[in-house]
Amino acid sequence: MRLRPSALRGFAGLVALGAVACQEHEPEVERRGPPLPDSGSPASCPSDGAGGEGGVPSVPVRFCQAEIVLRTVCQRCHQDPPLHGAPFPLVTFEDTHKPYEGEKLRWERMKEVVASDFMPLRGSGLDPPVDYLTCEQKSTLMGWLEQCAPPEGGTDCDGTSETLVACDERWRRDGG
Ligand code: HEC
Repeated sequence: MRLRPSALRGFAGLVALGAVACQEHEPEVERRGPPLPDSGSPASCPSDGAGGEGGVPSVPVRFCQAEIVLRTVCQRCHQDPPLHGAPFPLVTFEDTHKPYEGEKLRWERMKEVVASDFMPLRGSGLDPPVDYLTCEQKSTLMGWLEQCAPPEGGTDCDGTSETLVACDERWRRDGG
């Protein structure tokens, strides 16, 4: 039985400095065994932000390339303030690095929900309807997320000076 009060999880999600909160409130009990399965730490992220193994793109994807997708797709709902029931804004680089839940950051959750096509959320009755990401959009956003969402290339984007990366076959949807 681990000493890990769920209150800590909720609290950590509320403050901007989740890591600090954890340090202050971590119970003084020596933890044994492997890392917690729900710790959400980006274990597989290469420290140089590049990668190249396990299907991770070896070409660095800049934040302002991923931001094209945030700007043109996600921000229809993930505005500041958010619209259509979205839980938080995804406008700035800082928005993507805020705590999501416990020790997990928003970009780590983004990686999961974009990979699974849960996001962008479809079927909410918007006109025009929200569609799946194109292969180029998904390859760009996933490429940046798989590199652990670095500030590569600067974080002050104007939405016009970058382009999407080419389609990565891993993200091509069957039947278009
Ligand atoms: C049509 C509006 C809409 C669009 C477009 C949209 N989202 Fe969302 N998003 C939502 C709503 C609503 C929720 C809350 C869903 C829920 O909790 O079931 C959500 C939740 C999320 C969450 C949290 C998921 C969770 O399990 O708590 C993430 C991360 C996210 N969106 C990322 C994205 C990204 C990245 C994009 C663009 C690729 C995007 N969203 C596009 C409406 C949208």
